[in-house]
Amino acid sequence: MDIVILGSGRGSNANAILKAWKDGQLGKAQVKAVISDVPDAPILNIAKSYKVPARTIDINANTAKISVVDTNKLIDLTNEFKPKLIVLAGFMKILSHRFIQEYESRIINIHPSLLPSFKGLNAIKRAYERGVKISGCTVHWVSKGVDEGKIIAQLPVRIMDSDTLDSFTQKIHAAEHFLLPEVISQLSFAEN
Ligand code: GAR
Repeated sequence: MDIVILGSGRGSNANAILKAWKDGQLGKAQVKAVISDVPDAPILNIAKSYKVPARTIDINANTAKISVVDTNKLIDLTNEFKPKLIVLAGFMKILSHRFIQEYESRIINIHPSLLPSFKGLNAIKRAYERGVKISGCTVHWVSKGVDEGKIIAQLPVRIMDSDTLDSFTQKIHAAEHFLLPEVISQLSFAEN
């Protein structure tokens, strides 16, 4: 199962996937490339450190949603690697319906809350500030509605009274780094 990872920033989830892959924990999955919409994003250096092709896609930085022209570029670049699965690991642009259609049932996303709660941006901070006692992370199939596709797996995280936003954020990331490689591994076994 060939994989392409799309991400925009820090790349800690990409790192968790790449580490699990190198440690032989992803079954027959192979990471073929990491693509970022942000030039010089740390995720690209992480890919390079694992000797995985790291590519930047030059798309309009000023819109949240990917345009038709940029969709064509992204499809062309992604298709170079012929992925069976596309993993959104902190990819902060909204994909066009055409992109989602092109890879129907082949795109997964990690989101830092227990969906359907706290969809959208800044989910960790919003959950913390809302005072919920349990949050977590979700891996789901990507559909046309943002953060609305079918849920594959979730991991709960408790928010203790002693937690700061910082410590809670770290717990969420730790949960993500466990869950995302786990889901990819299961999908890879289901594929064979
Ligand atoms: C992760 O917490 C991921 O769940 C979130 O961005 C972060 C990326 O961190 N994604 C979303 O909020 C998407 N709606 P990373 O670059 O260190 O993996």
